[in-house]
Amino acid sequence: MEVVIVDTPESGGSLVAEAIVRLVARRPDATVGFATGSSPEPVYAALARRCIEEGVDLSRLRGFLLDEYVGLAPGDPRSYQAEIQRKVFERLGLPSDNLRAPDASAADLEAACASYEAAIAAAGGIDLQLLGVGSDGHIGFNEPTSSLGSRTRIKSLRQQTREDNARFFDDNVDVVPRHVLTQGIGTIRDARHLILVAWGSNKAEAVASCVEGPVTSMVPASALHLHPHATVVIDDAAARSLTLSDYFRRTWAAKPDWQYL
Ligand code: F6R
Repeated sequence: MEVVIVDTPESGGSLVAEAIVRLVARRPDATVGFATGSSPEPVYAALARRCIEEGVDLSRLRGFLLDEYVGLAPGDPRSYQAEIQRKVFERLGLPSDNLRAPDASAADLEAACASYEAAIAAAGGIDLQLLGVGSDGHIGFNEPTSSLGSRTRIKSLRQQTREDNARFFDDNVDVVPRHVLTQGIGTIRDARHLILVAWGSNKAEAVASCVEGPVTSMVPASALHLHPHATVVIDDAAARSLTLSDYFRRTWAAKPDWQYL
């Protein structure tokens, strides 16, 4: 696992956007897994700058959603599909058909999960999966005790996660859906490169448990240790509970430019 500590979320966003730009330069129809929520926003803002100001062409990129709420009407602006269409695909001018999501309004949710796994496999797998981390250490919506080998499936959200996400539902926790479809931890681990981003002191404990704690299903993000190419990009505040932060800073400072992430 590589840990990169940056000064600001904006510089972290630029760093990760550059990794996506380099990936697409090598493989124009690369597959990218998109996370929602606050953490990836600096990445999406930096990507928009690269596309709009520098004319970077991401039009053949194929996107896969990390997770989706169950129980929202199709097209609900709070759905994760609508969010990624708005924050990434429309903003970057990418074809909306290039985004795939698990069908959380299907009558048969288990079949929808199986067909999402099949769609990822048919696309040749995910090249780069972007992740945030919940304050309880969840990735995707794999809450603590999720199997580290799990596949896309229906999950129930913890009350803490529903409270954390109430800000997207007019601060009314009662209307935050209780169920989601999420890529499993095994699905996430199949991606060729994982990049987890986290900013702010409220993520410091989750980051420390992910990076320095033991691998345990109680901290789903710790499963990144089971991946051969996992990168954690965090700001100073999110790094404050790490005992090895000095080591991570020196290692990154001495890394040759050509290696990148
Ligand atoms: C989002 C997702 C979640 C979030 C996590 C952190 O698609 O799967 O794991 O990444 O809940 O959310 P933010 O970034 O809003 O703090």
